[in-house]
Amino acid sequence: MELRPMRSWIHHSRGKVLRQAVTGRHELGGLYEDMITRQGFEGRDAYLYRRSEPTRWKRAGGGAVNRNYDGQLLEPSDRALPGGGPLRLFHNPGLSIWVSRRSANMPYSARNIDGDELYFVHEGTGTFYTEFGPIPYEPGDYVLVPKGVTYRIRPAGPVNYFLVVESAEELGFADTGAFGRRAPFDPGLLYVPSPELDELGDGCDENGKWPVRLKMRGEHTTVVFDLDPIDVEGWSGDLFPFKMNIRDYRPIMSDRIHVMPSAYAVFATSTFMVGNFLPRPFESAPDAEQFPPYHRNVDYDEFTFFHSGTVLGMPIAPATMSLVPQGLHHGLPAELQEQVTKNLKPGDRIDTEVVFVDTKVPLTPTAEADATRHTGQDSGRIGM
Ligand SMILES: [Fe+2]
Repeated sequence: MELRPMRSWIHHSRGKVLRQAVTGRHELGGLYEDMITRQGFEGRDAYLYRRSEPTRWKRAGGGAVNRNYDGQLLEPSDRALPGGGPLRLFHNPGLSIWVSRRSANMPYSARNIDGDELYFVHEGTGTFYTEFGPIPYEPGDYVLVPKGVTYRIRPAGPVNYFLVVESAEELGFADTGAFGRRAPFDPGLLYVPSPELDELGDGCDENGKWPVRLKMRGEHTTVVFDLDPIDVEGWSGDLFPFKMNIRDYRPIMSDRIHVMPSAYAVFATSTFMVGNFLPRPFESAPDAEQFPPYHRNVDYDEFTFFHSGTVLGMPIAPATMSLVPQGLHHGLPAELQEQVTKNLKPGDRIDTEVVFVDTKVPLTPTAEADATRHTGQDSGRIGM
């Protein structure tokens, strides 16, 4: 059990500030609200009230760049070749983010000994055929395959797109204790498979053998069986693959205060969290702000994957990804904030569906990821 960072009550204010942070910014007389925060959004913080947008830098070099990527340009080898695999995009020593676009059944079984695999289904339907039983998948599903579990993916059609988060540390659910056991999702809705063997033979090679492709210590190696290694008729325990769909996740929100992204974490380890921003109404109380302050999340990189919807009404291509390195300012441009709030009516909703990964250890993009960068759009003027 991880201890949450200590809450310090030693707060000081100097100069011009809001009476209450993230509330009633019209009283700032043209100043911009800017946040610096430790431990994600759970540690010590400071709000600075400044004269210009902190995201309006003219030039930046080296790693001081917020990056956008076109996920539609990615070509993992499993898109064209059944025997292929996912493509690694970002990594640190404990975490890798991959994309799979598998178009046909796997002619092998897979078993990851390096870590848990969390699949987010962006496109496609089909089945994860696992040792514990089949798990049907559809868009919006999180499918968690624990470290060491053997499985094969059987797409129902050729178009599939999975974002895969591989974690060396055991991936668990984020702590949402304060909201009660059934919010933001009812754990009774997890889909847990039951053994159901069939004779499809999709994991068999041309010699009638059954290869299991192991991922261990960053490399792939294969062990070969005479019979299908997925042959379980029963299981019992508290280690098992499962899935849940984002439609069953009910975001916690407040009408009066903008809730920080860490409230939407679904899965977590001691060094990163995976969560989702999902459709919800805008905050509508008269003095509530609909947008977070400009901010520097100085202990976490922020990775986002756009599953569907718009960015506050502006179209965005599905599978667009962004990476904001820790410590770098980001935030929605003031003119866009104004444009959205000007036309806002009570009951208006945000339709964005985004999966995020916030990670304490900086992520390194691979060359394959960088090849899909929208270099023209790199700036601080994005972000959640
Ligand atoms: Fe952020």
